[in-house]
Amino acid sequence: MNTSSSILNPPPHLARIEAMSLGLNFNMASEPLTGSLLRTLARSKPSGRFLELGTGTGVSTCWMLDGMDANATLVSVDNDVRVQNVARRALEEDTRVQFVHAEGASFIDQLCHEGQTFDFIFADTWPGKFYHLDEALTLLKLGALYIVDDLLPQPNWPDDHSGKVSIFLQYMMERTDMVITPLMWSTGLLIATRI
Ligand SMILES: C[S@@+](CC[C@H](N)C(=O)[O-])C[C@H]1O[C@@H](n2cnc3c(N)ncnc32)[C@H](O)[C@@H]1O
Repeated sequence: MNTSSSILNPPPHLARIEAMSLGLNFNMASEPLTGSLLRTLARSKPSGRFLELGTGTGVSTCWMLDGMDANATLVSVDNDVRVQNVARRALEEDTRVQFVHAEGASFIDQLCHEGQTFDFIFADTWPGKFYHLDEALTLLKLGALYIVDDLLPQPNWPDDHSGKVSIFLQYMMERTDMVITPLMWSTGLLIATRI
């Protein structure tokens, strides 16, 4: 099966964002296969409230926006304004998305404090995935999706990273309020539903 990004019908703005990302030497963007899955799953949440932890330069953001319907909204947080500004520049005309420049853990705490809940969380940074996980899972509505990628070994992983991934997967398997499926897809994903 040919799954190149051209076959996947990439979203508007993706090529521009990728070009700007190269200029910043930003190499942590999601792969097209991850983006395509995010887009498909995003479509399953009409009028949904979406949260992205780790905007990067907006690659996964634009895939999610391409799947979301007109009434859905997305909040995307990153602590690096330099990379997040690429996403802002490319996507700012889309009124469904709000970019927040903040430390992820503090922002998750703020959302918890405000009693906010979401239909879909893509956790693509450290807080909400390898720490502050309980707090992030608290933000899920019943039936909401929690998605992470980068769970299969990657050449750029630091030495202690595979241990973090194992602990994360073990913890998710033990949660009795989540139905999970790890996927050998793209960089290795996990899709979980809150029950
Ligand atoms: C894997 S990249 C995100 C890639 C993006 N989601 C995509 O697929 O294109 C992780 C991002 O998390 C951000 N980040 C790292 N630590 C963070 C923290 N403590 N709080 C918020 N953002 C953080 C980095 O600046 C980086 O942009």
